[in-house]
This record gives sequence, C-alpha cells and structure tokens, in this order.
Amino acid sequence: MIGEPLVLGIETSCDETGAGIVRGRELLANEVASSMDQHARFGGVVPEVASRAHLEAMVPVLEGAFAKAGVRPADIDAVAVTAGPGLAGTLMVGVAAAKAYAYGLGKPLYGVNHLAAHVAVDQLEHGALPSPCVALLVSGGHSSLLLVRDVTGSVEPLGATIDDAAGEAYDKVARVLGMPFPGGPPIDKAAASGDAAAIRFPRAKYHDGTLDFSFAGLKTAVARWVEAKRDAGEPVPVADVAASFQEAVADVLTRKAIEACRRRDVPDLVIGGGVAANSRLRALAERRCELAGIRLRVPRPGLCTDNGAMVAALGADIVASGRPPSSLGLPADSSLPVTEVLVR
Ligand code: KG4
Ligand code: ZN
Repeated sequence: MIGEPLVLGIETSCDETGAGIVRGRELLANEVASSMDQHARFGGVVPEVASRAHLEAMVPVLEGAFAKAGVRPADIDAVAVTAGPGLAGTLMVGVAAAKAYAYGLGKPLYGVNHLAAHVAVDQLEHGALPSPCVALLVSGGHSSLLLVRDVTGSVEPLGATIDDAAGEAYDKVARVLGMPFPGGPPIDKAAASGDAAAIRFPRAKYHDGTLDFSFAGLKTAVARWVEAKRDAGEPVPVADVAASFQEAVADVLTRKAIEACRRRDVPDLVIGGGVAANSRLRALAERRCELAGIRLRVPRPGLCTDNGAMVAALGADIVASGRPPSSLGLPADSSLPVTEVLVR
C-alpha cells in the first residue's frame, strides 16, 4: 500500500445497499440502492424482502462504485463491511459479499460497527475527528450519546433511549399523520410550513439529570392529540403537528448532547445517523452549540442516512490504526454493542 489506504465499504444493515470507496479521508464513490419502495406499503422494513433486494442490488451497486471511483477491484487495499448491529438476514448478505471480494482479491477484511461508522463518516467532510469528542447518534434503530476517544477502538456510551429511537418516533408519527415511510423526510418537509410553538408536546426526561432519552411518550401524545381532533370532527393541522413534534425531538436531543459535552468537559460535538439529516435538529444544534461554545460537526444529509462510504471511512481509519483484520469466519451480529468497533 502506497500512501492512504484505498478501502471498499459495504453496508446492508437495513434497507440500503451501499458500496463506498475512499482513499484515506477522501470520498471517491458512494453508491446506494434502496429497497424502501418495496416496504413502504407495509409501513416498515420487511427483513426478508430487504435481504432479497440486497442480493439483487449488490453486484450492480459494487460495480457502480468501482466505475465511479475509477479504480479496479484489484486496486483496493481492504474490504470493510457492516458486521452489525442491524437485521440479521440483511447483514449476512453484505458480510458474504465482503468475504467473497476479500477472499477473491486476497485483501484483508474488516467487519465494523454500523454505529461507529455513522460517526466516522463525518471525517470525509470535515477531516480527522477531534479526540475526544461527544457523538449524538440518532437513527431509525438507535439514539445514543457517546464519548468517542478514538472511533476505531474507544467508544464509551454515556446515555441512550430507554424505549423508541428518535427515527422510530418520526416513522410512527408520520404514520399517524398519513405520511409515507420512512417518516423523517416528509415530517421535515411538512414542518417547514408549520408553527413549532403551536402545540406543546411533552419532553420526556428533560430535567431528569441523566443523558438518556425517551420518545415513546411523545409519540403517544402526538397520536392522542391527532385522534382527539379527528374525534371532534376538526381538521388536523398537519404542518403544525409536524413542526411541534419535530421541535420536541430536536429540543431534547440538543439539550442532552450539550449537557454531555459539559459534563465531560468536551468542546466538540458530532451528530450522525439518519435523523441528523433533519433540518430543525441541525439548525437548533448549531444555535445552541454556538451559545455553549461547543464546536459542532454534522455531515451533509446524504452521508447521514445509511451508505457504504461511512463503512469505508471507518475501515480506512482502522487500516491506518494498524489493527489486525477480521477472520474470514467473521459473523454478522444483529445486536453488536456500540463499544465493539471491530469484529474479529
Ligand atoms: O441511519 P439510518 O439511515 O438507518 C438506521 O441505521 O436506522 O436512519 C433512518 C432513520 C429513519 O427513521 C428516518 O425516518 C430518519 O432516519 N430520517 C429523518 C430524516 N431523514 C431520515 N428523520 C428526521 N428528519 C429527516 N430529514
Ligand atoms: Zn444507520
């Protein structure tokens, strides 16, 4: 290997088939195929349907990434793949593909943690992560605050949701409002023309002194409020509900993230995961971080939702750290803990 490692990253933890190629912290390709259209009518991802879609999309997506990057498979230095957490069946498709490429090309294989990859991806846009930094990780399956000393190996959980993930709350509230799945983007869009102060939805655990979250009560409160309107035969002010719900989520997330920075005396916050694409969360985090003297980093929306570049970015960092690769017997682990960045 000459210079920065050229790494292929494969992502299949949910419904996005992602293949990314990076050279060190330089993004060369980020191809994503989504099977979301096939799940939309079920209101959630159907694991077996997603697994089959990954099988069909895998080779075209990989070939697309190589073409875009202008590199040949034989040129890469390593293959990184999401080993977990995620859906067991979908993870297996990506892990099998990664093993095939690694074995066929005679390159090392790195099975990496999806959550750490959501944090590592920011380096493709903003350079090396400060050490330590606090990470707010908000996706469809997770909402966590992490103390990241080294994204390739030292990640300490500071707090997490005790029930629904933030993205899950978006998806469920969208369903109540008759919006398509996944709910984040349509709620974000509807909220743009709504009044965030129209309805005061609850902010659970706001003053509880922990760094944990809870979104199940908020989701229920929104559903009850909407039901009451419908029962009364009144029109539901969808934009106001979306904006007020979004405000409650962004308020709690940013408050606790800043509290985590304060408690650990860490002046750098990075936000990652699909919900980090949310416009209100980004704007409020920016304002509150500025007031608190905290430097904020959030990747552009296209890098926040699941993709292969994030896996390649973490893989490149791990290669550079000199850690030994995974074995070809690498398992997929659907409940991989956030502390396990690299699976052997
Ligand atoms: O990280 P991600 O792509 O997949 C998981 O690892 O779960 O996150 C998906 C989640 C979904 O719940 C989706 O509704 C949410 O991210 N999301 C958003 C936005 N875009 C995606 N939530 C709020 N606002 C958005 N703009
Ligand atoms: Zn994700």
